Amino acid sequence: MAENIHRFRRLRRDGRIRSMMQETRLHPKDFIYPIFVIEGENIKSPVKSMPGIYQYSVDRLEEILDRVAAASIGGIMLFGIPLKKDPEGSQAYAEDGITQRAVRFVKEKYPEIYIVADICLCEYTSHGHCGMVCGDEILNDETLPYLVKMSVSLAAAGADMVAPSDMMDGRVAAIREGLDEAGFGQIPIMAYSAKFASAYYGPFRDAAHSAPGFGDRKSYQMDFANGQEALQEIAADIEEGADIVMVKPALAYLDVLKEAALHYHMPLAVYNVSGEYSMVKAAAANGWIDEQRIVVENLTAMKRAGARLIITYHALDAVNWIV
Ligand code: PBG
Ligand code: ZN
Repeated sequence: MAENIHRFRRLRRDGRIRSMMQETRLHPKDFIYPIFVIEGENIKSPVKSMPGIYQYSVDRLEEILDRVAAASIGGIMLFGIPLKKDPEGSQAYAEDGITQRAVRFVKEKYPEIYIVADICLCEYTSHGHCGMVCGDEILNDETLPYLVKMSVSLAAAGADMVAPSDMMDGRVAAIREGLDEAGFGQIPIMAYSAKFASAYYGPFRDAAHSAPGFGDRKSYQMDFANGQEALQEIAADIEEGADIVMVKPALAYLDVLKEAALHYHMPLAVYNVSGEYSMVKAAAANGWIDEQRIVVENLTAMKRAGARLIITYHALDAVNWIV
């Protein structure tokens, strides 16, 4: 037998040594759980394309918030679904808007839960785009003041962090300035920096009623063919004052995440999006894969690639599977 052979298997011999050698370990605080909040009363409505995920009215939120609190996960991300939509998305920054009311409810009843507010107009605009529209053009600079208003409004309602997901250029700087001027200098910004125009968002758009009414999002979200541009986007957001930068979706973009981790010494987040979740759930429901093992493998890969935070619909299940 060759003397110079590397005997890797010595450290894989049994479960005791394998667990000591494990480089990446998931922890409940790694996870942020997205929650959909809808107007109305006594509603818990299943999202058909996302088994296990529901839209809740504010008066039914306790059911899911109790589970979040018990799981001791890092936090939640709130997505409001307003009844009234208009071209300016005015419910996004209305004092009594659905998301503002949800944030106030969580803050009051569950002060221990860390609340991240997604900042984007697409759930609130009648045309379903993430910014102001003129003809078939999605306007950039005209959109920024609305994103600032939404951020300040949700910070005032009690959000602990804001996370702009619109992909307008310059929004991080605008939001930082707006928050600071309004006295919210302590509220961090988690920027969806490298957000790709992805078919993986399909189920989310059912859940959040946010599909674009015309065209697509390719003039603001990134081309999934582009890795170098993703690093430029991340660099720009860091320069503009982002506290955490995000790559989204996760699984098909772990190369981008890893490269970001090597290039920028910044906290990184990854969004394990709706389509990624639903594919796992569908295959598991058919008995084709082992859901528990696949989910732990996927989430571990995200952390191994460099994610400090993982936004995932699997969060509440995963905490039971990682101990
Ligand atoms: C809103 C937003 C989207 C997601 C998060 N925030 C959808 C989109 O950009 O169309 C996707 C999340 C998911 O698929 O789970 N801009
Ligand atoms: Zn949007």
